[in-house]
Amino acid sequence: MIIKPIETIKGTLSVPGDKSISHRAIMLGAISEGITEISGFLMGDDCLSTVDCFRKLGIKIEISENKVFVHGKGLMGLSAPSTILDVGNSGTTIRLLTGILAGQNFSSSITGDASIQKRPMLRVVNPLRKMGAEIEGIEGGNYCPLHIKGKNLNGIHYKLPVASAQVKSAILLASLYSKGKTIIIEPKSSRDHTEIMINYFGGNILKNKNEIISSPVKKLIGQQVEVPGDISSAAYFIAAALILPNSELLIQNVGINPTRSGIITVFKQMGGDIQLINERIQSGEAVADIFVRSSKLKGIEIKGDIIPKLIDEIPVIAATACYADGVTIIKDAAELKVKESNRIKTMSSELRKMGAQITETDDGMIIQGTSQLMGTTVESYNDHRVAMSLAIAALRANKETKIQNSECVNISFPNFFSLLSMFE
Ligand code: S3P
Repeated sequence: MIIKPIETIKGTLSVPGDKSISHRAIMLGAISEGITEISGFLMGDDCLSTVDCFRKLGIKIEISENKVFVHGKGLMGLSAPSTILDVGNSGTTIRLLTGILAGQNFSSSITGDASIQKRPMLRVVNPLRKMGAEIEGIEGGNYCPLHIKGKNLNGIHYKLPVASAQVKSAILLASLYSKGKTIIIEPKSSRDHTEIMINYFGGNILKNKNEIISSPVKKLIGQQVEVPGDISSAAYFIAAALILPNSELLIQNVGINPTRSGIITVFKQMGGDIQLINERIQSGEAVADIFVRSSKLKGIEIKGDIIPKLIDEIPVIAATACYADGVTIIKDAAELKVKESNRIKTMSSELRKMGAQITETDDGMIIQGTSQLMGTTVESYNDHRVAMSLAIAALRANKETKIQNSECVNISFPNFFSLLSMFE
């Protein structure tokens, strides 16, 4: 994909549905009783992998133009798949689904693409084994394919070693199949869409400071879920409007759950002119319209508790920080190394090709702002967030930038380039 520099970004747009919420709506719909009707579902490759896995588990899922209907069969209604489940590129699918499969009365196997096969799974396998799960995989279960023999599970008391919503969610989903309560202690709050949605479907999850307590329920009931726009997708356009002169952009219907909206806090701290309008609650989730104007940004330090609340936005923060005055320091973000690519490495190396001054650290990056980057050829490493973040950096470069392997944006934001081209 060739990205030409653009002058300004003005207008109104909406972004596709939230990826995390879309996955969870399929999963919880499948194990609830009755029909779950989802609007705003993200038709990206990752969420379609979740649909494919649940169809292989015997769930009827109908996709019409703008709605998805999941014909739930109840907690014990899944059936043994006749082939290996393939999650494609989706870490959320493999980790959350492993939690569900651990408590079934059948065996199953699950795998994914080359990137998924390199991503650590022991973080979910270890706590699930403590609950009584029988899971085997490569290197003691750290890498997929995973083979899961369904078992009777017991609740656990578990302190998460990493702040990970995927790990927390795998345990919470397994807790729906467990005898007794499950208590999870989080080192830092991570996205809580699973907790919100389990309760929305009739479950019993309580939060007490950093403890999440899941009590068993007999059944979950299918619901109507309205998926808001994905703040992680909105982040690219927020960044574009901030760095391009004379911009004014309204992004409608974006999820602003406080465990996801660290990007708004950080961009405001950098001097960004961002307003939340029309704040409301939709299917249990906070939603708003976001109004952004171009701003003179300054470098800041980003670390600590906010990191899990913007973990997927660090690539676009790095791109944006290149155009800020002064230095931006990102710390406590070692998790970036085990995402779809090693995002500390991939973002640093590709922004450097564009002339950015970036130092990689063990748990983040140090970025020296500049007023201009240079258009050149860069590589996405098949990581959707790297491709889109480089596209944003390219908007204010001196000449066009070629992004190689850019089709990976289909993972989370299939119409990203066509939306961007509206502003050329
Ligand atoms: C996700 C959690 C995060 C995030 C990922 C989606 C989720 O991963 O990076 O894109 O939907 O639960 P971790 O839990 O590994 O931090």
